[in-house]
Amino acid sequence: MKVICILLGILCAVSAEDYPDAKRNFTEVCTAHGWRVETHNVTTADNYILTLFRIPGAANQPLNPNKKVVFLQHGLLDCADTWIMDLPDSPGFQFAQAGYDVWFGNSRGNYHSLGHVTLNAWKDLAYWNFTWQDMADYDLPAVIPYVLQTTGQKKLTYIGHSQGTLQMFAHLSSNQTFINNINIFIALAPVGTVRHIKIDFFFLIKKFPLFDMMNDLGIGCFLPYDNAPGLNYDFCELFSVVCDWVDYALADMITGNDNDKMLPTIFAHEAGGTSVRNMQHWQQMTNYDTYRVQKYDYGDHDNEKIYGQKKPPVYNFAKIPGPIALFFGKDDRLADPTDGAWLRGVIPAKSIVYQEETYNFGHMTFVWGKNMTWFSNVIALANNYSSNAQEENSSPVLLSS
Ligand SMILES: *[C@@H]1O[C@H](CO)[C@@H](O)[C@H](O)[C@H]1NC(C)=O
Ligand SMILES: *[C@@H]1O[C@H](CO)[C@@H](O)[C@H](O)[C@H]1NC(C)=O
Ligand SMILES: *[C@@H]1O[C@H](CO)[C@@H](O)[C@H](O)[C@H]1NC(C)=O
Ligand SMILES: *[C@@H]1O[C@H](CO)[C@@H](O)[C@H](O)[C@H]1NC(C)=O
Ligand SMILES: *[C@@H]1O[C@H](CO)[C@@H](O)[C@H](O)[C@H]1NC(C)=O
Ligand SMILES: *[C@@H]1O[C@H](CO)[C@@H](O)[C@H](O)[C@H]1NC(C)=O
Repeated sequence: MKVICILLGILCAVSAEDYPDAKRNFTEVCTAHGWRVETHNVTTADNYILTLFRIPGAANQPLNPNKKVVFLQHGLLDCADTWIMDLPDSPGFQFAQAGYDVWFGNSRGNYHSLGHVTLNAWKDLAYWNFTWQDMADYDLPAVIPYVLQTTGQKKLTYIGHSQGTLQMFAHLSSNQTFINNINIFIALAPVGTVRHIKIDFFFLIKKFPLFDMMNDLGIGCFLPYDNAPGLNYDFCELFSVVCDWVDYALADMITGNDNDKMLPTIFAHEAGGTSVRNMQHWQQMTNYDTYRVQKYDYGDHDNEKIYGQKKPPVYNFAKIPGPIALFFGKDDRLADPTDGAWLRGVIPAKSIVYQEETYNFGHMTFVWGKNMTWFSNVIALANNYSSNAQEENSSPVLLSS
Protein backbone atom coordinates (compact mmCIF):
# COMPACT_ATOMS: atom_id res chain seq x y z
CA MET A 1 0.00 0.00 0.00
CA LYS A 2 2.74 2.38 1.03
CA VAL A 3 4.80 1.59 -2.05
CA ILE A 4 1.81 1.93 -4.33
CA CYS A 5 0.94 5.30 -2.81
CA ILE A 6 4.47 6.61 -3.19
CA LEU A 7 4.66 5.45 -6.81
CA LEU A 8 1.35 7.07 -7.60
CA GLY A 9 2.43 10.23 -5.84
CA ILE A 10 5.54 10.48 -7.98
CA LEU A 11 3.81 9.44 -11.18
CA CYS A 12 0.82 11.71 -11.17
CA ALA A 13 2.01 14.94 -9.53
CA VAL A 14 -1.55 16.15 -9.83
CA SER A 15 -1.90 19.89 -9.67
CA ALA A 16 -3.47 20.92 -6.38
CA GLU A 17 -4.02 24.56 -7.24
CA ASP A 18 -7.71 24.39 -6.41
CA TYR A 19 -7.00 22.71 -3.11
CA PRO A 20 -3.95 24.40 -1.62
CA ASP A 21 -4.40 22.70 1.77
CA ALA A 22 -4.42 19.27 0.16
CA LYS A 23 -0.63 19.32 -0.19
CA ARG A 24 0.01 20.97 3.16
CA ASN A 25 0.46 19.04 6.37
CA PHE A 26 -1.18 20.01 9.66
CA THR A 27 1.36 22.62 10.67
CA GLU A 28 1.53 24.10 7.18
CA VAL A 29 -2.26 24.48 7.02
CA CYS A 30 -2.25 26.39 10.32
CA THR A 31 0.60 28.65 9.23
CA ALA A 32 -1.03 29.31 5.85
CA HIS A 33 -4.17 30.50 7.63
CA GLY A 34 -2.34 32.87 9.93
CA TRP A 35 -2.02 30.82 13.10
CA ARG A 36 0.92 29.99 15.27
CA VAL A 37 1.36 26.25 15.65
CA GLU A 38 3.41 24.04 17.96
CA THR A 39 4.17 20.33 18.13
CA HIS A 40 4.53 18.53 21.47
CA ASN A 41 5.51 14.94 22.19
CA VAL A 42 4.10 13.19 25.24
CA THR A 43 5.22 9.74 26.41
CA THR A 44 2.56 7.49 27.95
CA ALA A 45 3.11 5.18 30.93
CA ASP A 46 3.27 2.25 28.48
CA ASN A 47 5.94 3.96 26.34
CA TYR A 48 3.96 5.24 23.36
CA ILE A 49 5.06 8.68 22.13
CA LEU A 50 2.04 10.76 21.15
CA THR A 51 2.25 13.96 19.14
CA LEU A 52 -0.01 16.84 20.11
CA PHE A 53 -0.55 19.98 18.08
CA ARG A 54 -1.31 23.35 19.57
CA ILE A 55 -2.57 26.64 18.18
CA PRO A 56 -1.64 29.12 20.92
CA GLY A 57 -2.85 32.17 18.97
CA ALA A 58 -2.67 34.18 15.78
CA ALA A 59 0.71 34.73 14.16
CA ASN A 60 0.25 38.50 14.06
CA GLN A 61 -0.81 38.88 17.70
CA PRO A 62 1.27 38.79 20.87
CA LEU A 63 0.82 35.56 22.83
CA ASN A 64 -1.62 35.68 25.72
CA PRO A 65 -0.32 33.11 28.20
CA ASN A 66 -3.52 32.94 30.22
CA LYS A 67 -6.05 31.68 27.72
CA LYS A 68 -8.79 29.17 28.27
CA VAL A 69 -7.70 25.77 27.00
CA VAL A 70 -9.63 23.37 24.77
CA PHE A 71 -8.49 19.85 23.83
CA LEU A 72 -9.91 18.28 20.67
CA GLN A 73 -9.77 14.49 20.38
CA HIS A 74 -10.53 12.86 17.02
CA GLY A 75 -12.30 9.55 16.35
CA LEU A 76 -11.63 6.13 14.81
CA LEU A 77 -9.21 6.10 11.84
CA ASP A 78 -9.05 9.86 12.03
CA CYS A 79 -6.35 12.34 13.10
CA ALA A 80 -5.95 15.91 14.36
CA ASP A 81 -6.30 17.28 10.82
CA THR A 82 -10.02 16.52 10.87
CA TRP A 83 -10.56 19.60 13.09
CA ILE A 84 -9.00 22.10 10.65
CA MET A 85 -10.20 20.82 7.26
CA ASP A 86 -13.67 22.29 7.15
CA LEU A 87 -12.76 25.78 5.96
CA PRO A 88 -13.70 28.47 6.62
CA ASP A 89 -15.50 27.24 9.75
CA SER A 90 -13.49 24.31 11.05
CA PRO A 91 -13.93 23.62 14.78
CA GLY A 92 -10.23 24.10 15.51
CA PHE A 93 -10.05 27.55 13.92
CA GLN A 94 -13.41 28.58 15.42
CA PHE A 95 -12.03 27.90 18.89
CA ALA A 96 -8.79 29.73 18.07
CA GLN A 97 -10.81 32.69 16.87
CA ALA A 98 -12.89 32.63 20.05
CA GLY A 99 -9.68 33.22 22.01
CA TYR A 100 -8.84 29.70 23.12
CA ASP A 101 -5.48 27.99 23.40
CA VAL A 102 -6.37 25.04 21.17
CA TRP A 103 -4.75 21.61 21.58
CA PHE A 104 -5.24 18.61 19.29
CA GLY A 105 -4.76 14.99 20.33
CA ASN A 106 -3.46 12.24 18.03
CA SER A 107 -4.33 8.72 19.15
CA ARG A 108 -1.59 6.11 19.17
CA GLY A 109 -1.23 4.50 15.76
CA ASN A 110 -2.35 7.42 13.63
CA TYR A 111 0.33 8.74 11.29
CA HIS A 112 1.23 11.64 13.57
CA SER A 113 1.65 9.42 16.65
CA LEU A 114 3.79 6.48 15.58
CA GLY A 115 6.53 7.02 18.15
CA HIS A 116 7.47 4.54 20.86
CA VAL A 117 10.33 4.44 23.33
CA THR A 118 11.53 0.99 22.23
CA LEU A 119 9.31 -0.29 19.39
CA ASN A 120 9.33 0.67 15.72
CA ALA A 121 5.81 0.96 14.32
CA TRP A 122 6.90 -0.13 10.83
CA LYS A 123 8.94 -3.12 12.01
CA ASP A 124 7.55 -4.37 15.32
CA LEU A 125 4.16 -6.03 15.32
CA ALA A 126 4.07 -5.55 19.10
CA TYR A 127 3.66 -1.79 18.54
CA TRP A 128 0.16 -2.44 17.12
CA ASN A 129 -1.02 -4.45 20.11
CA PHE A 130 -3.57 -1.90 21.34
CA THR A 131 -7.22 -0.87 21.12
CA TRP A 132 -9.21 2.20 22.27
CA GLN A 133 -9.07 0.62 25.73
CA ASP A 134 -5.36 1.55 25.86
CA MET A 135 -6.15 5.07 24.67
CA ALA A 136 -8.52 5.29 27.65
CA ASP A 137 -6.04 3.72 30.08
CA TYR A 138 -2.82 5.41 28.93
CA ASP A 139 -3.26 8.17 26.32
CA LEU A 140 -5.73 10.35 28.23
CA PRO A 141 -3.95 10.30 31.61
CA ALA A 142 -0.73 11.26 29.79
CA VAL A 143 -1.91 14.04 27.50
CA ILE A 144 -4.49 15.91 29.62
CA PRO A 145 -2.15 16.50 32.61
CA TYR A 146 0.62 17.43 30.14
CA VAL A 147 -1.54 20.16 28.59
CA LEU A 148 -2.60 21.49 32.00
CA GLN A 149 0.98 21.55 33.20
CA THR A 150 2.25 23.27 30.05
CA THR A 151 -0.46 25.92 30.06
CA GLY A 152 -0.55 26.39 33.84
CA GLN A 153 -4.36 26.00 33.84
CA LYS A 154 -6.31 23.95 36.38
CA LYS A 155 -8.91 22.64 33.93
CA LEU A 156 -9.58 22.40 30.24
CA THR A 157 -12.57 21.83 27.97
CA TYR A 158 -12.46 18.37 26.39
CA ILE A 159 -14.16 17.90 23.02
CA GLY A 160 -14.33 14.34 21.76
CA HIS A 161 -15.63 13.06 18.45
CA SER A 162 -16.76 9.40 18.24
CA GLN A 163 -13.91 7.22 19.56
CA GLY A 164 -12.62 10.41 21.21
CA THR A 165 -15.78 10.27 23.37
CA LEU A 166 -15.61 6.50 23.90
CA GLN A 167 -12.11 6.66 25.38
CA MET A 168 -13.12 9.47 27.76
CA PHE A 169 -16.32 7.67 28.83
CA ALA A 170 -14.25 4.54 29.49
CA HIS A 171 -11.63 6.48 31.43
CA LEU A 172 -14.17 8.39 33.53
CA SER A 173 -16.07 5.22 34.35
CA SER A 174 -12.79 3.76 35.67
CA ASN A 175 -11.54 6.92 37.39
CA GLN A 176 -14.16 9.49 38.42
CA THR A 177 -11.52 11.82 39.87
CA PHE A 178 -10.21 12.47 36.36
CA ILE A 179 -13.14 14.86 35.78
CA ASN A 180 -11.30 17.31 38.07
CA ASN A 181 -9.10 18.10 35.07
CA ILE A 182 -12.05 19.00 32.88
CA ASN A 183 -14.50 21.90 33.15
CA ILE A 184 -16.86 20.32 30.61
CA PHE A 185 -16.69 17.24 28.39
CA ILE A 186 -18.48 17.96 25.12
CA ALA A 187 -19.22 14.74 23.25
CA LEU A 188 -19.86 14.98 19.49
CA ALA A 189 -21.38 11.86 17.88
CA PRO A 190 -20.86 10.09 21.23
CA VAL A 191 -20.19 6.36 21.31
CA GLY A 192 -20.80 3.81 24.04
CA THR A 193 -22.42 0.78 22.50
CA VAL A 194 -22.66 0.36 18.70
CA ARG A 195 -25.21 -2.45 18.63
CA HIS A 196 -27.25 -0.61 16.00
CA ILE A 197 -24.39 0.48 13.78
CA LYS A 198 -25.56 0.60 10.15
CA ILE A 199 -22.23 0.60 8.38
CA ASP A 200 -22.03 -2.12 5.75
CA PHE A 201 -18.29 -2.50 6.18
CA PHE A 202 -18.76 -4.00 9.65
CA PHE A 203 -21.35 -6.47 8.35
CA LEU A 204 -19.18 -7.36 5.41
CA ILE A 205 -16.25 -8.27 7.62
CA LYS A 206 -18.44 -10.59 9.65
CA LYS A 207 -18.69 -12.75 6.57
CA PHE A 208 -15.18 -12.10 5.35
CA PRO A 209 -12.67 -12.37 8.21
CA LEU A 210 -10.46 -9.53 7.03
CA PHE A 211 -8.96 -8.72 10.41
CA ASP A 212 -8.14 -12.34 11.26
CA MET A 213 -6.49 -12.67 7.88
CA MET A 214 -4.46 -9.53 8.47
CA ASN A 215 -3.42 -10.91 11.87
CA ASP A 216 -2.38 -14.19 10.30
CA LEU A 217 -0.34 -12.30 7.73
CA GLY A 218 1.38 -10.37 10.52
CA ILE A 219 -0.17 -7.04 9.54
CA GLY A 220 -0.72 -4.90 12.63
CA CYS A 221 -1.82 -1.59 11.17
CA PHE A 222 -5.08 -0.78 9.45
CA LEU A 223 -4.95 1.91 6.73
CA PRO A 224 -1.35 2.95 7.21
CA TYR A 225 -0.11 6.29 6.04
CA ASP A 226 3.42 7.54 5.76
CA ASN A 227 2.76 11.19 6.47
CA ALA A 228 3.55 12.61 3.06
CA PRO A 229 0.74 15.07 2.45
CA GLY A 230 -0.90 14.81 -0.91
CA LEU A 231 -0.21 11.18 -1.68
CA ASN A 232 -3.72 10.19 -0.71
CA TYR A 233 -4.92 13.13 -2.71
CA ASP A 234 -3.20 11.93 -5.84
CA PHE A 235 -4.44 8.44 -5.18
CA CYS A 236 -8.02 9.63 -4.80
CA GLU A 237 -7.82 11.75 -7.94
CA LEU A 238 -6.97 8.60 -9.87
CA PHE A 239 -9.23 6.21 -8.05
CA SER A 240 -12.01 8.38 -6.74
CA VAL A 241 -14.43 5.48 -6.75
CA VAL A 242 -12.21 3.55 -4.37
CA CYS A 243 -11.84 6.52 -2.04
CA ASP A 244 -15.54 7.25 -2.09
CA TRP A 245 -16.17 3.66 -1.17
CA VAL A 246 -13.61 3.69 1.64
CA ASP A 247 -15.14 6.86 2.92
CA TYR A 248 -18.66 5.58 2.64
CA ALA A 249 -17.74 2.33 4.31
CA LEU A 250 -15.76 3.74 7.18
CA ALA A 251 -16.91 7.27 7.83
CA ASP A 252 -20.32 6.69 6.29
CA MET A 253 -20.74 10.21 5.19
CA ILE A 254 -23.92 11.74 4.01
CA THR A 255 -22.40 14.10 1.52
CA GLY A 256 -25.52 16.25 1.33
CA ASN A 257 -24.76 17.69 4.77
CA ASP A 258 -21.02 17.50 4.65
CA ASN A 259 -18.68 19.99 3.11
CA ASP A 260 -18.10 18.27 -0.22
CA LYS A 261 -16.07 21.22 -1.49
CA MET A 262 -13.37 20.30 1.03
CA LEU A 263 -13.41 16.56 0.34
CA PRO A 264 -10.28 16.48 -1.84
CA THR A 265 -8.43 18.28 0.96
CA ILE A 266 -9.92 16.07 3.64
CA PHE A 267 -8.95 12.88 1.82
CA ALA A 268 -5.44 14.19 1.34
CA HIS A 269 -5.13 14.15 5.15
CA GLU A 270 -7.14 11.03 5.89
CA ALA A 271 -7.26 8.28 7.00
CA GLY A 272 -5.19 8.55 10.15
CA GLY A 273 -4.72 4.81 10.61
CA THR A 274 -5.10 2.56 13.62
CA SER A 275 -4.33 -1.00 14.68
CA VAL A 276 -6.06 -4.07 13.27
CA ARG A 277 -6.72 -5.03 16.89
CA ASN A 278 -8.58 -1.77 17.49
CA MET A 279 -10.75 -2.56 14.45
CA GLN A 280 -11.35 -6.00 15.96
CA HIS A 281 -12.44 -4.41 19.23
CA TRP A 282 -14.92 -2.27 17.29
CA GLN A 283 -16.10 -5.31 15.41
CA GLN A 284 -16.64 -7.14 18.72
CA MET A 285 -18.73 -4.18 19.86
CA THR A 286 -21.12 -4.67 16.94
CA ASN A 287 -21.73 -8.26 18.06
CA TYR A 288 -22.76 -7.92 21.71
CA ASP A 289 -26.18 -9.34 22.48
CA THR A 290 -26.90 -6.79 25.22
CA TYR A 291 -26.15 -3.13 25.74
CA ARG A 292 -22.72 -2.96 27.31
CA VAL A 293 -19.29 -1.46 26.82
CA GLN A 294 -16.50 -3.85 27.60
CA LYS A 295 -12.79 -4.43 27.24
CA TYR A 296 -11.26 -6.36 24.37
CA ASP A 297 -12.33 -10.00 24.31
CA TYR A 298 -9.34 -12.36 23.99
CA GLY A 299 -11.53 -15.46 24.38
CA ASP A 300 -12.29 -17.22 27.67
CA HIS A 301 -8.87 -18.77 28.14
CA ASP A 302 -6.75 -15.66 27.56
CA ASN A 303 -9.28 -13.40 29.31
CA GLU A 304 -8.65 -15.48 32.42
CA LYS A 305 -4.90 -14.89 32.09
CA ILE A 306 -5.13 -11.18 31.26
CA TYR A 307 -8.19 -9.98 33.24
CA GLY A 308 -8.42 -12.76 35.85
CA GLN A 309 -11.94 -13.58 34.66
CA LYS A 310 -13.49 -15.50 31.76
CA LYS A 311 -15.44 -12.57 30.31
CA PRO A 312 -13.94 -9.15 29.61
CA PRO A 313 -14.61 -6.53 32.32
CA VAL A 314 -17.55 -4.24 31.57
CA TYR A 315 -17.24 -0.46 31.97
CA ASN A 316 -19.74 0.95 34.43
CA PHE A 317 -21.17 3.96 32.60
CA ALA A 318 -23.51 4.64 35.55
CA LYS A 319 -20.45 5.99 37.36
CA ILE A 320 -19.52 8.60 34.76
CA PRO A 321 -19.31 12.06 36.33
CA GLY A 322 -20.15 15.35 34.57
CA PRO A 323 -20.57 18.01 33.41
CA ILE A 324 -21.11 16.39 30.00
CA ALA A 325 -22.81 17.78 26.90
CA LEU A 326 -24.02 15.31 24.26
CA PHE A 327 -24.51 16.17 20.58
CA PHE A 328 -26.22 13.42 18.57
CA GLY A 329 -26.93 13.24 14.84
CA LYS A 330 -30.30 11.81 13.79
CA ASP A 331 -28.72 10.44 10.60
CA ASP A 332 -25.61 9.08 12.26
CA ARG A 333 -25.14 5.52 11.05
CA LEU A 334 -22.19 4.76 13.33
CA ALA A 335 -23.40 6.35 16.58
CA ASP A 336 -26.99 5.36 15.87
CA PRO A 337 -29.77 7.28 17.72
CA THR A 338 -31.00 4.02 19.30
CA ASP A 339 -27.61 3.47 20.87
CA GLY A 340 -27.55 7.17 21.76
CA ALA A 341 -30.77 6.72 23.71
CA TRP A 342 -29.13 3.95 25.72
CA LEU A 343 -26.11 6.17 26.40
CA ARG A 344 -28.30 9.05 27.58
CA GLY A 345 -30.15 6.67 29.86
CA VAL A 346 -27.14 5.00 31.44
CA ILE A 347 -24.97 8.08 32.13
CA PRO A 348 -26.33 9.60 35.37
CA ALA A 349 -28.83 12.37 34.59
CA LYS A 350 -27.02 14.75 36.92
CA SER A 351 -23.85 14.38 34.81
CA ILE A 352 -25.58 15.52 31.62
CA VAL A 353 -25.91 19.31 31.48
CA TYR A 354 -26.87 19.70 27.84
CA GLN A 355 -28.03 17.52 24.97
CA GLU A 356 -29.11 18.02 21.44
CA GLU A 357 -30.15 15.69 18.62
CA THR A 358 -29.90 17.26 15.21
CA TYR A 359 -31.68 16.31 12.00
CA ASN A 360 -29.54 15.59 8.98
CA PHE A 361 -26.33 15.19 10.94
CA GLY A 362 -24.29 12.18 9.97
CA HIS A 363 -21.25 10.91 11.83
CA MET A 364 -18.77 13.28 10.20
CA THR A 365 -21.08 16.32 9.95
CA PHE A 366 -19.83 17.29 13.41
CA VAL A 367 -16.33 17.92 12.06
CA TRP A 368 -16.86 18.43 8.31
CA GLY A 369 -20.35 19.95 8.13
CA LYS A 370 -21.34 22.27 5.32
CA ASN A 371 -23.03 24.63 7.75
CA MET A 372 -21.05 24.94 10.97
CA THR A 373 -23.24 27.66 12.51
CA TRP A 374 -24.38 25.15 15.14
CA PHE A 375 -20.82 25.00 16.48
CA SER A 376 -21.43 28.30 18.27
CA ASN A 377 -23.42 26.16 20.76
CA VAL A 378 -20.27 24.19 21.51
CA ILE A 379 -18.26 27.37 22.02
CA ALA A 380 -21.03 28.85 24.19
CA LEU A 381 -20.95 25.76 26.40
CA ALA A 382 -17.16 25.90 26.63
CA ASN A 383 -17.36 29.62 27.51
CA ASN A 384 -19.99 29.03 30.17
CA TYR A 385 -18.06 26.30 31.91
CA SER A 386 -14.53 27.59 31.51
CA SER A 387 -15.34 31.10 32.74
CA ASN A 388 -16.49 29.69 36.10
CA ALA A 389 -13.17 28.02 36.64
CA GLN A 390 -11.08 31.01 35.63
CA GLU A 391 -12.87 34.07 36.91
CA GLU A 392 -9.71 35.90 37.88
CA ASN A 393 -8.17 35.58 34.43
CA SER A 394 -8.20 38.49 32.06
CA SER A 395 -10.65 37.84 29.29
CA PRO A 396 -9.02 36.31 26.22
CA VAL A 397 -8.10 38.50 23.31
CA LEU A 398 -10.52 38.01 20.45
CA LEU A 399 -8.57 37.31 17.35
CA SER A 400 -9.58 38.19 13.88
CA SER A 401 -7.92 36.48 10.97
C1 LIG B 1 5.13 19.63 7.89
O1 LIG B 1 6.20 19.78 6.98
C2 LIG B 1 7.26 20.59 7.47
C3 LIG B 1 8.28 20.69 6.38
O2 LIG B 1 7.74 21.42 5.32
C4 LIG B 1 7.87 19.97 8.72
O3 LIG B 1 8.86 20.83 9.24
C5 LIG B 1 6.78 19.76 9.76
O4 LIG B 1 7.30 19.05 10.87
C6 LIG B 1 5.64 18.95 9.16
N1 LIG B 1 4.56 18.88 10.12
C7 LIG B 1 3.89 17.77 10.35
C8 LIG B 1 2.77 17.84 11.31
O5 LIG B 1 4.15 16.72 9.79
C1 LIG C 1 8.34 13.36 18.45
O1 LIG C 1 8.48 11.96 18.37
C2 LIG C 1 8.68 11.48 17.04
C3 LIG C 1 8.63 9.98 17.07
O2 LIG C 1 9.41 9.45 18.09
C4 LIG C 1 9.97 12.05 16.49
O3 LIG C 1 10.17 11.62 15.17
C5 LIG C 1 9.89 13.58 16.51
O4 LIG C 1 11.12 14.12 16.12
C6 LIG C 1 9.57 14.08 17.90
N1 LIG C 1 9.27 15.51 17.82
C7 LIG C 1 9.62 16.37 18.79
C8 LIG C 1 9.16 17.78 18.59
O5 LIG C 1 10.23 16.03 19.77
C1 LIG D 1 -0.83 -7.95 23.58
O1 LIG D 1 -1.16 -7.39 24.83
C2 LIG D 1 -1.76 -8.33 25.72
C3 LIG D 1 -2.26 -7.56 26.93
O2 LIG D 1 -1.32 -6.70 27.43
C4 LIG D 1 -0.76 -9.42 26.04
O3 LIG D 1 -1.32 -10.35 26.94
C5 LIG D 1 -0.39 -10.11 24.75
O4 LIG D 1 0.61 -11.08 24.99
C6 LIG D 1 0.15 -9.11 23.73
N1 LIG D 1 0.32 -9.76 22.47
C7 LIG D 1 1.37 -9.55 21.70
C8 LIG D 1 1.38 -10.28 20.39
O5 LIG D 1 2.29 -8.81 22.03
C1 LIG E 1 -7.48 9.32 38.63
O1 LIG E 1 -7.31 10.63 38.07
C2 LIG E 1 -6.72 11.55 38.97
C3 LIG E 1 -6.79 12.92 38.33
O2 LIG E 1 -6.07 12.98 37.13
C4 LIG E 1 -5.30 11.10 39.28
O3 LIG E 1 -4.69 12.00 40.17
C5 LIG E 1 -5.35 9.71 39.90
O4 LIG E 1 -4.04 9.22 40.08
C6 LIG E 1 -6.12 8.75 39.01
N1 LIG E 1 -6.35 7.50 39.73
C7 LIG E 1 -5.94 6.34 39.26
C8 LIG E 1 -6.26 5.17 40.10
O5 LIG E 1 -5.33 6.23 38.21
C1 LIG F 1 -27.07 27.12 8.98
O1 LIG F 1 -27.61 26.60 10.18
C2 LIG F 1 -28.29 27.57 10.97
C3 LIG F 1 -28.76 26.88 12.25
O2 LIG F 1 -27.71 26.20 12.87
C4 LIG F 1 -29.46 28.12 10.21
O3 LIG F 1 -30.09 29.14 10.99
C5 LIG F 1 -28.98 28.73 8.89
O4 LIG F 1 -30.09 29.13 8.13
C6 LIG F 1 -28.18 27.69 8.11
N1 LIG F 1 -27.59 28.33 6.93
C7 LIG F 1 -27.70 27.81 5.72
C8 LIG F 1 -27.01 28.57 4.62
O5 LIG F 1 -28.29 26.77 5.52
C1 LIG G 1 -24.61 29.80 28.81
O1 LIG G 1 -24.94 30.60 29.96
C2 LIG G 1 -25.94 31.56 29.70
C3 LIG G 1 -26.07 32.46 30.92
O2 LIG G 1 -26.09 31.71 32.09
C4 LIG G 1 -27.25 30.83 29.39
O3 LIG G 1 -28.27 31.75 29.11
C5 LIG G 1 -27.03 29.96 28.17
O4 LIG G 1 -28.18 29.18 27.92
C6 LIG G 1 -25.85 29.02 28.37
N1 LIG G 1 -25.58 28.39 27.09
C7 LIG G 1 -25.27 27.12 27.01
C8 LIG G 1 -25.07 26.58 25.63
O5 LIG G 1 -25.12 26.40 27.98
